Amino acid sequence: MLAIIGGSGLTQFSGLEIIETLDLDTPFGQPSAPIQIAQLKGKSVAFLPRHGAGHRIAPHKINYRANIHALKKAGVTSIIGVAAVGGITSKYGPSVLVVPDQIIDYTHSREHTFFSEQFRADNHIDFTWPYDAELRQALLNAAQSRNLSIIDGATYGAVQGPRLETAAEIKRMANDGCDLVGMTGMPEASLAREAELPYASLAIVANWAAGVSPELLTMAQIQQTLSAGIGEIKDLIAQFIEQM
Ligand code: HPA
Repeated sequence: MLAIIGGSGLTQFSGLEIIETLDLDTPFGQPSAPIQIAQLKGKSVAFLPRHGAGHRIAPHKINYRANIHALKKAGVTSIIGVAAVGGITSKYGPSVLVVPDQIIDYTHSREHTFFSEQFRADNHIDFTWPYDAELRQALLNAAQSRNLSIIDGATYGAVQGPRLETAAEIKRMANDGCDLVGMTGMPEASLAREAELPYASLAIVANWAAGVSPELLTMAQIQQTLSAGIGEIKDLIAQFIEQM
């Protein structure tokens, strides 16, 4: 079963026919919300809003370990993390859809591994390519089937939040090779890898990152771009599930 972890702009997945709600506990605490099991295109799909049902959990407070563990417990076998991001480099302007292929992690002080307590020598996961190649390709194929334009590949810079960045921080991230900036891509991706769950990210650019355009960032503008783009994301996910 596929899971969708919804982010900003996708707290609810309207149109899903929910058949079950799983209120799961884990050794790491509670996930962000009960997991909804729904039917889409005749297939079961799990949905979990990353920031909680009412979007009340800040990016650094999300219990990423509980979320991934609970999904695994629910029988999930692959995950698509939907993410709103800021665009840093020129191709990645507002409203663009992206399937990133790399990550630079600037987050700190987050519980970021399942292997803290009982560490074993073979617990160093390979993370050369942080996203699952097959899932990425399937997302790109689904976009093509629906004639949706989408960019294949980008380096996602994961930041702590919840504040947005300074112009100098974005300049540094650009120098580092980041194309996108977001607050929730890590440790979600690496925990999925630790849990042996194939994971890919579907990112939607909500705004130019700080200092990239002369305008200051407003949440109203960001939210407007996200609500305009969410239809395409749902379309793409429905197509993805149909092709699964
Ligand atoms: N920075 C960090 N996270 C974000 C942004 C941004 O500009 N836009 C959407 N999520």
